[in-house]
Amino acid sequence: MGKDVIVACDFSGREAVLQFLDKFENEPRKPYVKIGMELFYGAGPEIVREIKRRGHRIFLDLKLCDIPNTVKKSMAVLRDLDVDMTNLHAFGTIEMMKAAIEGLTRPDGTRPLLIAVTQLTSTSEERMRGELLIDRPLPEVVMHYARNARAAGLDGVVCSPLESPAVHESCGAGFITVTPGVRFSGGAVGDQVRVTTPARARELGSDYIVVGRPITANDDPVAAYRKCVNEFVD
Ligand code: C5P
Repeated sequence: MGKDVIVACDFSGREAVLQFLDKFENEPRKPYVKIGMELFYGAGPEIVREIKRRGHRIFLDLKLCDIPNTVKKSMAVLRDLDVDMTNLHAFGTIEMMKAAIEGLTRPDGTRPLLIAVTQLTSTSEERMRGELLIDRPLPEVVMHYARNARAAGLDGVVCSPLESPAVHESCGAGFITVTPGVRFSGGAVGDQVRVTTPARARELGSDYIVVGRPITANDDPVAAYRKCVNEFVD
C-alpha cells in the first residue's frame, strides 16, 4: 500500500477550497484531500463530487457515531459519493463498526477505506476518568479501541505518528495509521501539542500523514506540499 500526504482542507466554503485547489492545477500529483465537517456541512455533498471530478482522492472526515442501523445507512450514502476514505468513532462499538462496513460496501464487494478514531486527542486522561468514567490509562484505551476496530474489519485508525509503531505492532503492519500532528522542522506548531516532521512520520511507519496549516496557510502551498511528499513519500 502506497504512502500518501493528505491535505486537510479546513475551509468553510466552496469558493475558498476551490481557489486553494486551483493552485495545484498543473501539479502532476493531485493532492489527496481531507474534507471535514466544517466544509461538508457548509458546502454540502456537492463539494465532494466537485473535488472528485477534479481528480483528487478524498478522505471524508465526518467521524460517524450512532446506532448501527443509522450508521449503516449513512455509510451507504457516503459510498455513493464515491469517497476514497472515511471514518467513525470506535466508541460506537464493534457492532456499529461492522454495520458501517456493510453500508459502505459496493455491490461488487469493494469499498472505500474505513478508519476509526480511538480517543480524540483533545480528551485528556483526567477528563476520560472524571467525565467519561473510563478508569484505564489513555494509551491502553487507544490501543484497545484500535484492536476493536481491527476485529470489526476496519482498515486502520487515526492516531499520532508517535503511536504508529505500537498500533502496527498490536494490530499488524497492514493496519493503516492515518496521522495528523505533522509540522516542518522550525515551522509554527499552532494548537498541536506533540508534533512530528513528515520525515520522522515516515521513519515511525505512518501510512498517511494529514497536513493542514503547514500547507494551506503557507505563502507557497504547492512548494509546501511538494516538500511533504519529498520527505514522506519519495
Ligand atoms: O492544520 P493542521 O495540520 O493542524 O490540521 C490537522 C488536521 O487533522 C485537522 O483537520 C484536524 O482536525 C485533524 N486532526 C487532528 N488531530 C486529531 C484528529 C484530527 O489534528 N487527533
